[in-house]
Amino acid sequence: MSVKPILFENGACRMIDQRLLPTEEVWIDYTDYQGVAEAIRSMVVRGAPAIGVAAAFGAAFAARDIEADSFDDFMAQFEKCCDFLAATRPTAVNLFWALDRMKAAAQKAKDLPPEQLKKYLLAEACTIANEDEQINRRMGQHGEPLIPQQARILTHCNAGALATGGYGTALGVVRAAAEAGKNISVIADETRPFLQGARLTAWELNRDNIDVTLICDNMAGYLMNKGEIDCVIVGADRIAANGDVANKIGTYNVAILAREHGIPFYVAAPTSTIDLSLSDGSKIPIEERDASEVTHHGGTLLAPDGIKVRNPAFDVTPARLVSAIITENGVAEGNYLENLQRLVNQGE
Ligand code: MRU
Repeated sequence: MSVKPILFENGACRMIDQRLLPTEEVWIDYTDYQGVAEAIRSMVVRGAPAIGVAAAFGAAFAARDIEADSFDDFMAQFEKCCDFLAATRPTAVNLFWALDRMKAAAQKAKDLPPEQLKKYLLAEACTIANEDEQINRRMGQHGEPLIPQQARILTHCNAGALATGGYGTALGVVRAAAEAGKNISVIADETRPFLQGARLTAWELNRDNIDVTLICDNMAGYLMNKGEIDCVIVGADRIAANGDVANKIGTYNVAILAREHGIPFYVAAPTSTIDLSLSDGSKIPIEERDASEVTHHGGTLLAPDGIKVRNPAFDVTPARLVSAIITENGVAEGNYLENLQRLVNQGE
C-alpha cells in the first residue's frame, strides 16, 4: 500500500518529515495550528492536496482551543487562525479551498453547543483527509485508459502519495495503470532545487516496486529525442479557468519539450485544484523561495557566496500545451473553459 503522509492518531496530526526523505523516516506529531502552519511553511508537508489536508487539521486544532462567548466571537477568532494558516504558501489553491471548507462547516454547525461544534470540525478535517485518497483513486480510474499498454512515463516533482492524502494524483494514474497490468516504467526528473523527484518520487515508487529511473532535469529533451518517453504526467498546484496550469518550476520546460517531440502531456489534479475565479494563469500567485535553496545543498555552498539568485517555486504551463486534464470527475480536453467548469460543477 502506498504511504499516507498525514495520519490522525491519538489526538495528534502525524506527518512524515518530507525534508528528510529518503535518508530518514521521521514522523512528527502536531497538536496546534501554529505547529501545522510551520510544517506547511517549512515543507515538512508539501504537495497541493497534502497542504490542504494539513491545513484542515490545523483549523480543527485552532477551533478546539478557542474560548468564545458566542458563535460570532468564535467565528471571528476562527477566521483569524485560518488566515494565519493561509499565509504559509501562496500558490497551491487547495490550501485556501480546505480552509474555506472548514469555515463553511463551522457555519453549518453554528447551532451546536461549542464542544460539539469543535468535534464536528475535527470530523470534517478527517473527512477531507479520507476523501482525498478516494478522489485520487477515481482520478486514477479516469486517467488509466490514456496510458498505453507499454509506457515509459516522465514525471516532474512529486505528485504522488506523499503529496496527497494517499495514492497520488499523477502517480495515482501511474499506480492505476500498473494495477491494470500495464507494463509501466517511470522516468523521474530530479526537480531542482528542492529535489522532490530525486528524494520523494524515486523513494515512493521504489518502495511500491514500480520501475523508476532518475534523471537530472536537463536530460528530458535527450530522452524524448531518443524516443524513450511515451507520455508525460504531472500534478498541479492551481489550474485557471482557461486550463493554464501552475505546477513545480520546470514543468513548463517539460511541456514545451513534449510538444516539440509530439508526446502527450497530461495533468492530473482534483477539482479542488481548479480555480475558476482566475481567468488565466497570469493571475496565479507564484511563490518565490529562499535563495539558499539554489546556492546550497545539504549545507554546502555550491555557488559564489552572495551571488544574486532567483528562486520561483512554480511556473505556468499554457493550456495549449496540455493534452488533457484528468480529474476525479472525468477528463477535460479541448475547450478547457467549458469542460473544466462542467467537471467542477459535477462534484457539487
Ligand atoms: O513545492 P511543492 O513540493 O509543494 O510543490 C509540489 C508540486 O508542484 C506538485 O506537483 C503539485 O503540488 C501536485 S501534488 C499532487
